[in-house]
Amino acid sequence: MKDRIIVALDAPDGAAALAVVDRIGPACGFYKVGLELFTAEGPGVVEALGARGKRVFLDLKLHDIPNQVAGAVARAGELGATLLTVHAMGGRDMLAAARDAAPGSLTLLGVTVLTSLDGPGLEALFGRRVADAGAEADRLARLVREAGLGGVVCSAAEAARVRETMGRGALVVTPGIRPADDPIQDQRRVRTASEAFAAGASHIVVGRPVTQAGDPAAAFARFAAEAREARDDR
Ligand code: C5P
Repeated sequence: MKDRIIVALDAPDGAAALAVVDRIGPACGFYKVGLELFTAEGPGVVEALGARGKRVFLDLKLHDIPNQVAGAVARAGELGATLLTVHAMGGRDMLAAARDAAPGSLTLLGVTVLTSLDGPGLEALFGRRVADAGAEADRLARLVREAGLGGVVCSAAEAARVRETMGRGALVVTPGIRPADDPIQDQRRVRTASEAFAAGASHIVVGRPVTQAGDPAAAFARFAAEAREARDDR
């Protein structure tokens, strides 16, 4: 069960990121490498994590013409990443090209709606009224499912309806997770690990609550304890 928690290594360089990995130790087997770290270090950081026996979620949120995205997906597969994100808003043809380029070892996740986009932000983007960001996430999840990708990234607040849309077996990966004892309640649409799993998340992404903790290993262990109690819809 330990691999249901993915720790986000949002660090400026590989040394800082790997120091956190080494502090957490063998308890965590899955790490997310995002745009900052990948831009700083490139493939080397993915290989360094692989050399430590860790799986890598490469969160590059690809969004370009189908040919470009297909090439990037193929290269990410060669690097040995386990998960890779593409934006659902790249559209049907881009998603299909990504799917066709992915080797069997690489699962593609469609990003539905960025958690930084609220109703007014989506309205400005789409040029139409948006009553509910969750409905937009669900609509995009449907596009991802129809394109045959392995799963989606969505807010834990939307995980229950997105799980229903994606069906059993799909990955539903949710960021925006806070510790159960965090004083910041859910003003930012954050959820606890238990809430996210109960809503149907297959994996949660946790960053700063673990990486910035005084004792990252202890902080990770608390999330792992919550995960052990949770149901598993994968
Ligand atoms: O907030 P935290 O450090 O746990 O974030 C971990 C990851 O979750 C980030 O790398 C980012 O991809 C994602 N995130 C998000 N929306 C937020 C905050 C973080 O999607 N509001």
